[in-house]
Amino acid sequence: MEQRHIRNFSIIAHIDHGKSTLADRLIEVTGALSSREMAPQVLDSMELERERGITIKAQAVRLVYQHQGETYELNLIDTPGHVDFTYEVSRALQACEGALLVVDAAQGVEAQTLANLYLALEHDLAIIPIINKIDLPSADPEKVMEQLLDIGLDGTEAVPVSAKQGIGIDRVLAEVVEKVPPPAGDARGALRALIFDSRFDSYKGVLVYIRVVDGSLKIGDRIRFMATSKEFEVTEMGVFGPHPVPVDHLDTGEVGFFAAQIKTVQDTRVGDTVTLADRPAEAPLPGYRPAQPMVYSGLYPVDSADYGRLREALEKLQLNDAALTFEPETSAALGFGFRAGFLGLLHMEVIQERLEREYDLTLITTAPNVVYRVTLVSGEVVRVDNPALLPPAGDIQTIEEPVVEASIITPSDYIGAVMELAQERRGIYLNLSYLDNVRAMLTYRLPLGEIMYDFFDQLKSRTRGYASLDYQLAGLQPADLVRMDILLNGEVVDALSTIVHRDRAYQKGRALAEKLRELIPRQLFEVPIQAAIGARVIARETVKALRKDVLAKCYGGDITRKRKLLEKQKEGKRRMKSVGSVEIPQEAFMAILRVE
Ligand code: GTP
Repeated sequence: MEQRHIRNFSIIAHIDHGKSTLADRLIEVTGALSSREMAPQVLDSMELERERGITIKAQAVRLVYQHQGETYELNLIDTPGHVDFTYEVSRALQACEGALLVVDAAQGVEAQTLANLYLALEHDLAIIPIINKIDLPSADPEKVMEQLLDIGLDGTEAVPVSAKQGIGIDRVLAEVVEKVPPPAGDARGALRALIFDSRFDSYKGVLVYIRVVDGSLKIGDRIRFMATSKEFEVTEMGVFGPHPVPVDHLDTGEVGFFAAQIKTVQDTRVGDTVTLADRPAEAPLPGYRPAQPMVYSGLYPVDSADYGRLREALEKLQLNDAALTFEPETSAALGFGFRAGFLGLLHMEVIQERLEREYDLTLITTAPNVVYRVTLVSGEVVRVDNPALLPPAGDIQTIEEPVVEASIITPSDYIGAVMELAQERRGIYLNLSYLDNVRAMLTYRLPLGEIMYDFFDQLKSRTRGYASLDYQLAGLQPADLVRMDILLNGEVVDALSTIVHRDRAYQKGRALAEKLRELIPRQLFEVPIQAAIGARVIARETVKALRKDVLAKCYGGDITRKRKLLEKQKEGKRRMKSVGSVEIPQEAFMAILRVE
């Protein structure tokens, strides 16, 4: 296709504002799929994704559209909708020249609307504002128009749409052709193609999703990945419409995928540049950075015989997930397992769920933690991704923790509540501005470790669901942190160690010991629980002894009830791990996340 007939764009939106529904409609209207074939949200292909309703992996769909007698190729590049995947979003946007900014007509501009808009502006994209859900009785398009004006967009030009009822879809497509510039690359130059996604296919090897920036690529070409210097021969190429359609080449400005017998996505890094081995480009495209795990957690099989299966499952998942890292780890309490690194909490939950669901493993997972940068008295700098491995206090000069800059949009009535929450989480106030006369945007610098777990839920509950949140990493910051250990029966349980702020250690220690007392079932003997910092015990609780005779209750009773009870007990056992002589349930390892 001639470059001037190509348009590459994506859809950006706050979560639930209707990105996937609009994408479905665009695909349907351009005839890519008849509505009979349309499964809702065809862009979200993974089962888990659909269940969770979150777009995790970017994908691209080629739409063929007739406009004023000419045929256009519109490539719609899907972007993930969660803060864990900001880097993937930025690469997908780099592959585009324009973006549809979808705003819910009833909800208005939210934190991720702004964050995504800024990201799109950083990439110089043409922005087409869309006001979606105009069919809702509570829709207030005029107000949204004003909000758009306030954030520097021409609200009067916004396209009113109901993605659900298919209203305004043609105008959206016409605007894509008219307002998004065609790709500007050098068709005769050396090949430079941006990788914006990849996925593993068991028959073809890795499918690499690319946007050709300069030059062209065809089947049989020998390619080189510029970041890893690995070389492969292209065996197959295609585009999605949204079903895969084979093609034999992709030219400047085009979007599609290729396969080259690549065994693992580790070789195909998102953001890397593909060039030709015998005519390489001089420099790669800007902006590549390797995926960097932000959150770590220990993964241990409940049945230690499953260790090998767990390793295999992690290896398999890694074939398709360059951001997942893992290393063997041994815990005195839990035995042999792995310390795994994730982009964020959602990523972690998805991986844990897949391990259990798709690989039929039963796991004990330890509480997630961030990575600390520790400077020792000796001057040596170490990276600590497991609280149990924090060096002794005497050896430490400084500890730095990752921080984020968070923007929170809230109705002004809840500013006080939001500030209180941010302060509880050691937030540093940066700014307050008003979006209009009823809504404000607060910015805070907050430790990542303080917000990754339930901050968003807390924010929602304290603002009756009205506040929205977005954050970006903002480097490392020194903090007065200490390791808190938990002792059961006088023995330190390494998998329960956490890193906490010194000022809160006492309070957290007490709360955690109490929580553990509730969570650890009574054993045949008394179990003392202690929280300690170094050699100093800061809290103590006791799990009382109990003679456990579950069948006594139904002595002489009917057998089905007995069986049920035994079943129930077995069920309960599944997620327990014996540490020394104490049985600890899964919830205990997560207890730290549930104490205030
Ligand atoms: P994520 O993929 O989770 O980021 O959400 P999304 O932005 O893709 O939103 P999605 O398309 O899943 O829509 C969210 C909800 O809004 C769904 O329940 C849709 O049915 C509904 N919705 C989308 N568009 C419209 C619309 O035009 N009108 C109405 N009434 N509802 C809509």
